[in-house]
Amino acid sequence: MTVQAEAFVPYGGVEADANWVEEVRRLAKERDAVLLAHNYQLPEIQEIADHTGDSLALSRIAAASDASTIVFCGVHFMAETAKILAPAKTVLIPDARAGCSLADSINGEQLREWKAQHPGAVVVSYVNTTAEVKAETDICCTSSNAVDVVASIPEDRDVLFCPDQFLGAHVKRVTGRENLHIWAGECHVHAGINGPELAERAAASPEADLFIHPECGCATSALYLAGEGAVEPERVKILSTGDMLHAARETQASSVLVATEVGMLHQLRKAAPEIDFRAVNDRASCRYMKMITPAALLRSLREGADEVHVDLDVAARASASVQRMIEIGKPGGGE
Ligand code: 13P
Ligand code: SF4
Repeated sequence: MTVQAEAFVPYGGVEADANWVEEVRRLAKERDAVLLAHNYQLPEIQEIADHTGDSLALSRIAAASDASTIVFCGVHFMAETAKILAPAKTVLIPDARAGCSLADSINGEQLREWKAQHPGAVVVSYVNTTAEVKAETDICCTSSNAVDVVASIPEDRDVLFCPDQFLGAHVKRVTGRENLHIWAGECHVHAGINGPELAERAAASPEADLFIHPECGCATSALYLAGEGAVEPERVKILSTGDMLHAARETQASSVLVATEVGMLHQLRKAAPEIDFRAVNDRASCRYMKMITPAALLRSLREGADEVHVDLDVAARASASVQRMIEIGKPGGGE
């Protein structure tokens, strides 16, 4: 699924024609399509979408939408999740080559082998997984409800948590659960936002809040810095992308260091223009998210491509775990 950056040529070139905004709106209306965009999308894609949000909010919006077509501006597992939740709808992704290194870190066969080693364990999979993995899962979660999902499982049951090791460590820390077994997968973008880099940035801006996505390699370091007194503990916030927006509206800080994919800065700056938001690592850009260009979106709406299909048997088995995911946790996280 995931393509190499060198092999990637964006659809229709990088630039769309000057009137692309009007054209997208016209075509979306013609197709009775709702446009959903993840918080990591290019700013112009976020701006044209009917809804932007985190993975959980967009899944809930997809499940509840009246539109007959969903155009998912995000990566492939997100569009696949929308198709599982709304099987009667047409689901399009502007470029099906937009994969995810984290979703690629476990497949169905690997999960089946892991389950065989832990009979009776409850499987919790992050939404960043393929439909095949979701079909082997008891409950899916996103970063905004992972703690609630694990807390909903009886304490005496072993839990297999996959595939993100940093999110798993965060959930283990918050729930204090020793019987949580964690798969050693990671997202190459978030794993690259490292502890030493964060420590250096935090030392240079002692007044700043730290907003850290739990997929980041630096999440443990941030809590260590707080524990050591290098950063005030109340300034360290481990948050999903949707929760970062809520925190931006509530904080009294005048500057915030943000540890996640850089697309997030667009919504944060819109939510709180008076705050100085800076990326901990400004090279933390997800090349898969950025495959969804205006030209790709136009092509998608004109051609009805790329349509997302999920094998009916896999979708039926994945559906229960995804339904549980959207039922657990607080509302919010999308606009
Ligand atoms: P959330 O939007 O759920 O925080 O997920 C982040 C992510 O990495 C999606 O790929
Ligand atoms: Fe996947 Fe990481 Fe990109 Fe999110 S940022 S889509 S987890 S590769």
